[in-house]
Amino acid sequence: MTGELSPIDKAKFVAAKRAADYVEDGMRVGLGTGSTAAWLVRCLGEQVRDGGLRFKGVPTSTRTADLAREVGIEVISLDEAKWLDVTIDGADEFDGDLNLIKGGGGALLQEKIVATASDQMVVIADIGKEVEHLGAFPLPIEVIPFGWQTTQALVEETLISMDVLGRQSSLRMNGDHPFVTDEGNYIMDLHLQRIGNPRQLSLVINQMPGVVENGLFIDICDAVVIGYGDGRVEVRDINEGTVEQERLDFLETDNLFTDLAD
Ligand code: A5P
Repeated sequence: MTGELSPIDKAKFVAAKRAADYVEDGMRVGLGTGSTAAWLVRCLGEQVRDGGLRFKGVPTSTRTADLAREVGIEVISLDEAKWLDVTIDGADEFDGDLNLIKGGGGALLQEKIVATASDQMVVIADIGKEVEHLGAFPLPIEVIPFGWQTTQALVEETLISMDVLGRQSSLRMNGDHPFVTDEGNYIMDLHLQRIGNPRQLSLVINQMPGVVENGLFIDICDAVVIGYGDGRVEVRDINEGTVEQERLDFLETDNLFTDLAD
């Protein structure tokens, strides 16, 4: 079964498996969205079923909520939890300051709300997500459907004065229709190529009417658990740099390797 995993899936899996160690009995845990976060949810579900782990999960999307319930995790809302011990989520890019681009899966709004309401945010990612400068991955911004083309024009005009290389944007589609987020909004992807000042860009974008939130996570992430295709994992902490390197074993009997769909 494990032989069917690509190196990138192995990398995502080992990062998720290692990050599951952050979850302890009695915690309230933010559960991210995306293929890496789905591995985490499966790992945690296995620990709930087989290891007696008891915690409450706050999902960041309907997809994650469905998967969490399916694997036996107790799901509560953020308002029920009020505050979280830790949130564990994937990312599309992370840089040396552990600033992130997120939202490739369209869940950035709930992800940012949940991560911000947590004592600690831990990102799980394969090594391919590491970048020197954010921006090669298109930056998603969540926009209100009303007047979205006007918002798009305003965003592109504003980008002229920003420290970015590209200024094109595109409405994210789902087949013939705009992709719609869990909150009923649209996603616009900004093709910036390189973001010189992520903090400034994030502030400026969020000031525009019509923009709900952007996918830049600045000063939110505390640690990144990085997975490699050969089973190595590395933990980088925002304060202490690389704090751990180890290799995780793949268990042929592991029953998590079915149903890989995100
Ligand atoms: C979801 O909206 C995103 O923020 C994901 O966390 C991000 O796209 C990473 O996804 P993968 O783990 O599937 O690469």
